[in-house]
Amino acid sequence: MRMYDLIMKKRNGEELSKEEMHWMIQNYVKGEIPDYQMSAFLMAVYFRGMTEAETLTMTLEVAHSGDMVDLSGIEGIKVDKHSTGGVGDKTTLIVAPIVAACGVKVAKMSGRGLGHTGGTVDKLESIPNMRMKIEREEFFSIVNRIGLSVVGQSGNLAPADKKLYALRDVTATVDSIPLIAVSIMSKKLAAGSDCILLDVKTGSGAFMKTLEDSVALAKEMVSIGEQAGKRTVALITDMDLPLGQNIGNSLEVIEAVQTLRGEGPSDLTELCLCLSADMLYLAGKGSPESCRTLAEQSIESGEALRRLAAMVEAQGGDASVIWNPEKFAKAAYQREVLAPREGFVTKMNSEGIGIAACLLGAGRETVDGTIDYRAGMVLKKKTGDYVREGEVLAVLYASHPELFASAEKKYLDSVAIEEKKAKELPLIYARVTKEGTLFY
Ligand code: URA
Repeated sequence: MRMYDLIMKKRNGEELSKEEMHWMIQNYVKGEIPDYQMSAFLMAVYFRGMTEAETLTMTLEVAHSGDMVDLSGIEGIKVDKHSTGGVGDKTTLIVAPIVAACGVKVAKMSGRGLGHTGGTVDKLESIPNMRMKIEREEFFSIVNRIGLSVVGQSGNLAPADKKLYALRDVTATVDSIPLIAVSIMSKKLAAGSDCILLDVKTGSGAFMKTLEDSVALAKEMVSIGEQAGKRTVALITDMDLPLGQNIGNSLEVIEAVQTLRGEGPSDLTELCLCLSADMLYLAGKGSPESCRTLAEQSIESGEALRRLAAMVEAQGGDASVIWNPEKFAKAAYQREVLAPREGFVTKMNSEGIGIAACLLGAGRETVDGTIDYRAGMVLKKKTGDYVREGEVLAVLYASHPELFASAEKKYLDSVAIEEKKAKELPLIYARVTKEGTLFY
């Protein structure tokens, strides 16, 4: 077989066979296919797309390029969740304890943030002494005992995706629906859970900016999951404005704790209840409606918060910050961003606001960059709110005052204030299952 022929086949819009896909992924991981040929193939996929069969085959090949995690050492049904990424998205910190409190196991591998979006591993590492690198036996034992554990992704999970993603990043082939589906689902399948809930973000802060593309991506991922034998559901949710009020690592843990106490912002609380309900539904706990009631009860009883604290303690972290979030170390400096005019907030560009948080030190520019766990911002006004001139729009936090000027500018450039109130956008647009798509 020759890579040249496979590139030509895809360039001409033909379908690759299982044998060809297997040969290509295997030899690419071994280093026998050079990046320049794989780049040409990816670009051909970008323009020609892939058939459903090709997308499934490529996903399975990429998943099997490294460890396939065997979670059979954990009793019961294990349910996973994946968000396609966003700004202020701390839902894993809330839904994993809720689901565990309702009797369904969550053995989850999470990633770090990159670019303008945050990552669960970084958020949890803002808790003093928290360990995110945990050996298999200990991981299993924590999940069996407490019902949940969230750890960093093992080094050898879908190594083909690591190489392909790095290449896509520099060849303008990231925003291809089949390639994103392969990338996400290969890692989900390799991570070993029985059911998968996908939170596909749509809007200015998401990979997919339009509802149409988000639904297309969700359909592909649900189809891959189901064909690979995993019950899979996707919710299409809003990322046109940041989720909740806090952006930045320890600030997001604080907001997760507030939400688990029943004191969180309404958008974040509602989304977490919907995600938890669907995870419980996938695990066979009842109808989506009765599962939502279970999720609500786990917050009211305090059990979900107790599970988060127990997980933190089991992973070596200082659980006192979960019980008393004011114990988190504070950023040395803070600055209020004031409204330049009176009116309604009509738009918040999530990507721009995420970049502003990174400028304060909350995110990393490169994979090896460092982050300041205390840095970030608290949004005091969001889309739909009315502000007077000079009223506080947001409070920025940083360890160095010279970081404020560029972050404040980026923040203000990302927010529109106008006379007329804008139409309210839904929090959840659609639910995609193997049976079809339900628009709300
Ligand atoms: N997240 C991933 O893991 N892969 C992509 O391609 C896009 C988002």
